[in-house]
Amino acid sequence: MTRFALFLALTLPAQDVWKTYPVYHPEKAPPDYIEWLRSQTPERIENPDGETLFQYPAVIGSLGHRPPSDPPYLHDKAWFDRVNPPLTREGAITGFVYVLRVKGKVEIGSYSCAGCHTRVLPNGATIKGGPGNFPIDAALAEDLEASISHPALRDANKDLLRRIFKLTGDFGLGNVAQSLAGRTLGVMTPLGAAPDQPIQIPDIIGNPKCADSNYIEAKQKAYNPNFTAPSAQLIAYLSTLRAPPSPFKADKYSRQGAKVLEREGCPRCHNEDRTKAPSLKGLWYRNVLGGNGAGTSLEDWFSPARLSYLRGHEYGLQLSATDRAALIAHLRTL
Ligand code: HEC
Ligand code: HEC
Repeated sequence: MTRFALFLALTLPAQDVWKTYPVYHPEKAPPDYIEWLRSQTPERIENPDGETLFQYPAVIGSLGHRPPSDPPYLHDKAWFDRVNPPLTREGAITGFVYVLRVKGKVEIGSYSCAGCHTRVLPNGATIKGGPGNFPIDAALAEDLEASISHPALRDANKDLLRRIFKLTGDFGLGNVAQSLAGRTLGVMTPLGAAPDQPIQIPDIIGNPKCADSNYIEAKQKAYNPNFTAPSAQLIAYLSTLRAPPSPFKADKYSRQGAKVLEREGCPRCHNEDRTKAPSLKGLWYRNVLGGNGAGTSLEDWFSPARLSYLRGHEYGLQLSATDRAALIAHLRTL
């Protein structure tokens, strides 16, 4: 797979697996965190387990391209203010980790499975395998800003932004944020996908592809063709991912919605042995719906007006207002 090959050309491949450390918001990090990291002895992990592989960066370097910085540019409140990533309960981010391969050298790692496939809830709880909400677009815009006086890096960043977020024209610093505004978080066009086809970062919990070793191996190599770790441990780990219980509790109203779901035949496609239909478990935490991510709430997914901007999937569009509201209430409890 050649996806993202463009930016691999400019980054160092990470072939071995090394111990990684969280990237904290500088105000949430332990005191003297970077100095402490510099004093640690790098640890090579011989037989990484599945969770380690899920969280291990495919690329040593940023998401985009930027000149080297010491201390790492992520240990800077200004970066957090500009990119505004959601923080976990520990005050860390999901998109990056620190990697120690050489004593005293704190490197940044990116493009882990977890970086795109972890959802951080407003209370800081994380859902591994949920659709990621790390703002990749804002982080790339910040890379562009940091590379503006380095023509090769700057142009590579522009190419990346054009390609995966469909920015057009010769946008510069002033208008990149503006061009990105109004986009739906979690929708991108991965390299290798058709150019005009935005795709949502899907919820992969229970996704049948998680058990497909050819797919997972291709995915492991997509961002780092030199990566050699086998997929078996990762696949075993992916099979353990579960959607957390919904905070929306069943009531009389939602139980009425459960009957609507049966009556409308939804489980014919949305069931545990599904082949193509996404799981309905975990709808309560998704912010985008439909393969191309054009739906942004259950209310608009089941509104007939949706057909004007997103065709197909007409199930549930003809319901009475009461049945529709009950169905949505039920779906949120799953
Ligand atoms: C840069 C972000 C990114 C990274 C890193 C990433 N993915 Fe994905 N993943 C996506 C996007 C976007 C899609 C939807 C488009 C597609 O299917 O390619 C996706 C789709 C998937 C799917 C569902 C495929 C389907 O057809 O339903 C699985 C399973 C998956 N990824 C697993 C992984 C694993 C395992 C890793 C780590 C080895 C990983 N991903 C790394 C962004 C990412
Ligand atoms: C014939 C099979 C089929 C039937 C019947 C069906 N669906 Fe779907 N559903 C799908 C497929 C396939 C998708 C993915 C659509 C896409 O990627 O654009 C989907 C997407 C969805 C989504 C968006 C999920 C997401 O995360 O993107 C919801 C919500 C949903 N369906 C609910 C329902 C409900 C409720 C019913 C019954 C009223 C129903 N579906 C009937 C096949 C079906």
